[in-house]
Amino acid sequence: MARIFSGIQPTGIAHLGNYLGAIQNWVKLQAENECIFCLVDLHAITVAQDPKALRAQTLQNAAILIACGIDPERQILFHQSAVHAHARLAWIFNCVARVGWLNRMTQFKDKAGKDREAVSTGLYVYPNLMAADIHAYHATLVPVGDDQRQHLELANDIAEKFNHDYGVDFFPRIEPLILAETARVMSLRDGLKKMSKSDASEQSRIQLTDDADTIALKIRRAKTDPEPLPDNIEALQPRPEAANLVGMYAAMTNQTSAAVLQQFAGSGFGPFKEKLAEVLIAHIAPITKAANDLLAEPVYLESILQAGARRAAAIANPIVDEAERIVGFLPRG
Ligand code: AMP
Ligand code: TRP
Repeated sequence: MARIFSGIQPTGIAHLGNYLGAIQNWVKLQAENECIFCLVDLHAITVAQDPKALRAQTLQNAAILIACGIDPERQILFHQSAVHAHARLAWIFNCVARVGWLNRMTQFKDKAGKDREAVSTGLYVYPNLMAADIHAYHATLVPVGDDQRQHLELANDIAEKFNHDYGVDFFPRIEPLILAETARVMSLRDGLKKMSKSDASEQSRIQLTDDADTIALKIRRAKTDPEPLPDNIEALQPRPEAANLVGMYAAMTNQTSAAVLQQFAGSGFGPFKEKLAEVLIAHIAPITKAANDLLAEPVYLESILQAGARRAAAIANPIVDEAERIVGFLPRG
């Protein structure tokens, strides 16, 4: 049994990319592993957040995770800010990671855009905090979407340098778990951009709280090209929007994109989109309903996260205490 850690930012509402790239895998992995799932609110404030919205979205995403099948009784589900070990270890890692390493992070470059001088220093050291999230638990498996691959390589570099500098074998290597087929779900408006919570247009993503009409409308309006669907995968390559919709259908119906094309070759996007909307609605409607039921009892939901945080702290505190001892800090007493 391995210990698994993963996180999701409560910066908006979880979407189909989160579901197919990460959450779906988390639900499967719980059967045979010890899992720790975290709403990473410390990461969320690396960009501006409205406090009221942040609180609401933390609860809403917790409800969505449980509705998707995460079991907060058997596994640990909590909000990052409630366990101080994350911030304590992140500080140590800020002093281990090199500026040159962070300068190579493509997600920082993307998020900072042209105005790199104006973003928060938190956004810059974001990957160090992410490394701390994982290493505070000595977790070894990390299920994520493809966009997190580089951050996980950095987490290994940090652990290796810490171990080397202090002459210890304290932090283990971590393995990313990235699902090949659904590692990158793309925007409905632009097949070259990933589906993201921070995209200004809600039309670009299916949120796990969207009702049937909204899903049907977003899929109907999704960008496509005028050609009918081809009969082979190679022909999809220069057609990113078509490839994305076919990939979604494949993931929702548990088959390969090639099998989907066999079924729909020669069909126009009208009828295909109708079928795609149908499978999405059938899958998402029960999640939305279960999440709304949970959200009707916010105090209960908060108590689930607080209980999770106590269990998380019981694992992380001794590990981070030991890291502080290795570094040379006197005991807190
Ligand atoms: P985030 O929404 O950035 O907090 O991401 C939470 C998890 O969902 C991470 O494991 C991401 O890699 C994954 N993820 C986010 N967006 C996508 C996407 N468009 N396709 C696949 N996985 C994604
Ligand atoms: N950075 C991740 C994302 O945006 C979220 C995250 C924070 C995470 N800490 C983590 C994922 C630790 C895996 C492990 O998707």
